[in-house]
Amino acid sequence: MDRELNGAMRSVSINSAQQNGHSRDETDRVGVANGGNVSASCAAAAAAQATKATNATSATGTATATNATTNSPSAQQIALASAAEKKKMVHELCQQLLLSDEQVQELCYRILHELRRGLAKDTHPKANVKCFVTYVQDLPNGNERGKFLALDLGGTNFRVLLIHLQENNDFQMESRIYAIPQHIMIGSGTQLFDHIAECLSNFMAEHNVYAERLPLGFTFSFPLRQLGLTKGLLETWTKGFNCAGVVNEDVVQLLKDAIARRGDVQIDVCAILNDTTGTLMSCAWKNHNCKIGLIVGTGANACYMERVEEAELFTAEDPRKKHVLINTEWGAFGDNGALDFVRTEFDRDIDVHSINPGKQTFEKMISGMYMGELVRLVLVKMTQAGILFNGQDSEVLNTRGLFFTKYVSEIEADEPGNFTNCRLVLEELGLTNATDGDCANVRYICECVSKRAAHLVSAGIATLINKMDEPHVTVGVDGSVYRFHPKFHNLMVEKIATLIKPGITFDLMLSEDGSGRGAALVAAVACREDILYAKK
Ligand code: GLC
Repeated sequence: MDRELNGAMRSVSINSAQQNGHSRDETDRVGVANGGNVSASCAAAAAAQATKATNATSATGTATATNATTNSPSAQQIALASAAEKKKMVHELCQQLLLSDEQVQELCYRILHELRRGLAKDTHPKANVKCFVTYVQDLPNGNERGKFLALDLGGTNFRVLLIHLQENNDFQMESRIYAIPQHIMIGSGTQLFDHIAECLSNFMAEHNVYAERLPLGFTFSFPLRQLGLTKGLLETWTKGFNCAGVVNEDVVQLLKDAIARRGDVQIDVCAILNDTTGTLMSCAWKNHNCKIGLIVGTGANACYMERVEEAELFTAEDPRKKHVLINTEWGAFGDNGALDFVRTEFDRDIDVHSINPGKQTFEKMISGMYMGELVRLVLVKMTQAGILFNGQDSEVLNTRGLFFTKYVSEIEADEPGNFTNCRLVLEELGLTNATDGDCANVRYICECVSKRAAHLVSAGIATLINKMDEPHVTVGVDGSVYRFHPKFHNLMVEKIATLIKPGITFDLMLSEDGSGRGAALVAAVACREDILYAKK
């Protein structure tokens, strides 16, 4: 076991030597040696195989206690194993989910490399991490006022909001959540935008602004190749959406067309933005050090303030403005193999069964859309091997998507040694015969998956902080995983602190409704600019 892990580390450093030699115009496929895979092929990992082998022979009455070729425990041995031995097997199998310090460091290096490829004109077309220009150059200054509409599409729900920005950083907000039925999420783009326009119209009627022409900020949380503050072409769908006829189209125009088709309401689309941008703006309204926006929710992504000269795809119009906000779209990091050295069999399983195989590799190891499923896959493997629940599975446990990510937060919220939430979750899964040992093992599996996610995000954030190289950076954060997981914040703070340059300080600030209020703020800042230009 140790030998295998050391081997993995050795190959990581070899890879990093290879990477250091990469020139900026390398091909888009990172040559990561297979040997870099951290495969903790310990006793437990082989146990499922051993179980099958033993079962086959026992039918003929010739079962042996151990599988001679793998030297793994047989099904009989697992069945007779003590709680302590089972715990050891679980911990050994989970080794592959733990990232060593060297691996996290290597990740920082690779993320920086990919960010640079996204920013540079010559490498951008082939880059995975696109680093899209958002055209947002101004942070709110606290003087933004007025009534704004906002649309928020891209998380678990679709929302329409009416926000009134007032004096003294005060604001009023009314909002309503609308479901996006599954058939619309994967239907036609026209259906999707007609649905959005209908919800907007209903909302305006209910909130007595039906006859007003209000400025609107559209939080559209997908990779968008922006051509301006109010123009953006969808690069690709992510997070379970796949509506036909939208990729490469201007999403603002599709919204305007749908509103025009109805002909009942009128709006001014002042800005289209990513949820990470909204999160940053929303925090920056109160805290001017906020220069990174992070989402760890259904998806995972970050944006940051970059120097204009680094953003080669941005043509600056105002030489006085030195920075521009970049939407990294780092969820796609690893789509070229750069993460293969830390991916596991569970990650590959998630990817193969996803709606977008081969895409959003980093996101699939982190975000709420996949975290529960990752845990479920580990649980299934251990149950089939007889290590958990005495080998007794359930239909729910064996069904994809039914171990919700909120279960991970609930299970980890139990005090150590107390399994109240854990047992409730297991009951929902139809697993009623769990011992305390099983519960402790289930909790440990959740901890490994969520800790890995927090460490991956930390590698990304530390890389951005180091790249920005400012004395202090506040990171505005939102998203269900960050918000509801009991330890995610602390895990991140601890890890980032070990990765940033000496002398730099940082803090993580929970954003108050970035996608809603942030959208209003981007729209407000845009209006502020319009008014300024009109006055000139
Ligand atoms: C996905 C989207 C990205 C968004 C993130 C968080 O990664 O591609 O635009 O910011 O999810 O919602």
